[in-house]
Amino acid sequence: MDVLIYSSQPFERPFLDAAASARGHRCQHQTLALNASTAALANGFSAVSLFVNDDGSAAVLQQLAAGGTRLLALRSAGFNHVDLNAAKALQLAVARVPAYSPYAVAEHTVGLILTLNRKLHRAFARVREQNFSLNGLLGFDLHGKTVGIIGTGQIGSVLARIMSGFGCTVLATDPIQNRDCLALGVRYVTLPELLQQSDIVSLHCPLTAATQHLINSQTLAQMKPGAMLINTGRGALIDSKAVIVAIKSGQLGALGMDVYEEEAGLFFADHSGDILTDDVLARLMTFPNVFITGHQGFFTREALQNIAETTMTNVSAFAAGTPNGNWLS
Ligand code: NAI
Repeated sequence: MDVLIYSSQPFERPFLDAAASARGHRCQHQTLALNASTAALANGFSAVSLFVNDDGSAAVLQQLAAGGTRLLALRSAGFNHVDLNAAKALQLAVARVPAYSPYAVAEHTVGLILTLNRKLHRAFARVREQNFSLNGLLGFDLHGKTVGIIGTGQIGSVLARIMSGFGCTVLATDPIQNRDCLALGVRYVTLPELLQQSDIVSLHCPLTAATQHLINSQTLAQMKPGAMLINTGRGALIDSKAVIVAIKSGQLGALGMDVYEEEAGLFFADHSGDILTDDVLARLMTFPNVFITGHQGFFTREALQNIAETTMTNVSAFAAGTPNGNWLS
């Protein structure tokens, strides 16, 4: 099949092309994101592939369906950007890549924790200026600290294992208790208990109506004063404006984020010559105890290869009329 790849990035093309050609498919790469103005580019493509910031809202899906699209092959685990009810009504199949490398995201989460704790971002800048002063770089031993993991699915459970290795006490909250986590000694508690007891809180639940702004002014107030918050899940899990207030008051001691609620149209592209018009992100970037990466948690060679192969396996399954466990609609 010919597959239109929306939001195609140079770094993923070799992986996608190889996985497609091994299965007799062909990729047509489109650097533009999918939205109401670009949906017409898919006319005639029965399979299109979406990335995390493509717009899969009902109106856009209607345009795709009208143009003959029958399959949305998501190159992501998260699917909050696709209106699944609309897809079902339009008889659009939606397949995702449920697992490609939980290690990639969990390891990046640890990178954010270590960077913020030991102020590596500040140390890097200082040393380049021949400033070898240690003042302001004081961290704490991770050993013996309490880490609270919200969502112990594939990524959260890998993080639980890594943080146990550091000698941390790991608390978790999740409607489904993970057997590997229980075996590790992870203690499941309520969200308020987790927030009250954790020195570091890390978000690994999906973004849904129930989890939108899970971290807000009320839940921030329940956290240990000066605790660290890490978000490599989805931007809208946290209310960014409430977080700014908590950082300014000192209630929140550090924030690491790989995702941002208004990242669409900004992340995954070079805007270094542009004026940043997002005042919330601009304010977040001014704090020395906030460290932001541009949605690169997934970004390892192994993950790109797995994403490409599963995406093209999903296309093959669709072509053969044999939906697999990756189907959402
Ligand atoms: P998963 O589906 O394996 O695990 C999610 C867990 O969250 C499940 O155990 C579920 O029961 C739990 N959960 C659902 N609602 C909850 C709630 N209200 N409170 C606590 N737990 C809740 O998903 P996986 O693969 O671990 O990914 C987690 C999230 O990470 C994805 O939904 C996606 O948004 C994000 N992600 C971010 C990436 C990045 O590059 N930064 C890459 C891949 C995923």
